[in-house]
Amino acid sequence: MIGKTHLRALALSSSLLAASGFANSAVAQDVNLYTTREPALLSPVLEAFTKDTGIKVNAVFLKDGLQERIRAEGANSPADVMLLVDVGEINAAVEAGITQPIKSDVVDKTVPAQLRPDNNWVTLTKRARIVVVSKDRVQQDAITYEELADPKWKGKFCIRAGQHPYNNAFFAAYIAHHGQEKAETYLKALRTNAARKPGGGDRDVARDIQSGLCDIAVINTYYIGLMSQAKNEQKGWYDAIKPLKTSFAGGGTHVNVSAAALAKNAPNKANAVKLIEYMLGEKAQTIYADGNFEFPVNPDVKESAAVKLLGTITPDKLSLSDVAKQRKPAADLVDKAGFDS
Ligand SMILES: [Fe+2]
Repeated sequence: MIGKTHLRALALSSSLLAASGFANSAVAQDVNLYTTREPALLSPVLEAFTKDTGIKVNAVFLKDGLQERIRAEGANSPADVMLLVDVGEINAAVEAGITQPIKSDVVDKTVPAQLRPDNNWVTLTKRARIVVVSKDRVQQDAITYEELADPKWKGKFCIRAGQHPYNNAFFAAYIAHHGQEKAETYLKALRTNAARKPGGGDRDVARDIQSGLCDIAVINTYYIGLMSQAKNEQKGWYDAIKPLKTSFAGGGTHVNVSAAALAKNAPNKANAVKLIEYMLGEKAQTIYADGNFEFPVNPDVKESAAVKLLGTITPDKLSLSDVAKQRKPAADLVDKAGFDS
């Protein structure tokens, strides 16, 4: 849907880019934002921030190479705030040394420690990775991730590539729960159950459930939300699936995050912290989370679009930093198990 909002967002982003000759001379009432998120998703929040605070946001939207760019800019980088997706991308930024600790009572009070593990970044929204099944062919309402390995799903399971960051984080969480040996057995069983070679996007698994190719699949929750609003064939994909209450055995739902980080050499640090705090407020959380059907991190936002559609989720209790540590082993196991071949 290319509606008014989308066009306005593009206009905003290009004007921001054009105006951004920015930088080293950034004035006191500016804040410079680097992000991998979509302009259409962010623009309404940034507009609200500017309206409420008078601080102008110079946004740079980068699909790739954000971290490399800030590293190359070095001590003179104009970057104040980074808005990122996926715990792998976020940890890579921290490990690259381009972040600094966020000191803020608002952050500490709003976000549980588990969701801001090293103070260099803070979760803004949660993105759950859950199981969906064919509404017509599968009769159950809940499942554990472990049960996906059950031989009863042989030839019926669909999932995107095992090396995709979303599955890498999911499998890393599996290792954090069960250890590498069991994770290897698990990956092999999932591959055996696969109806087709793992690949495509998350929405494609819903398409393949509708077509009858598979009965059960793994998907990020926001795609379910986006398909529910689709005005094209994706609405049919949505109608064919049923989301299951999904958790690790004895644990919770696997979540990944979108997050804000404070840039190491932020020239407008006070404004940067203001923007991060604003992103955690009820107004921004509602706009930002609902724009992509993500789950707000602020517990005071009760009626988010994601919760209305899918109900509440109980995130797994594993620390995201413990999960991140298993990403490399998870990538190795995917290769070893021949998951993507
Ligand atoms: Fe995605």
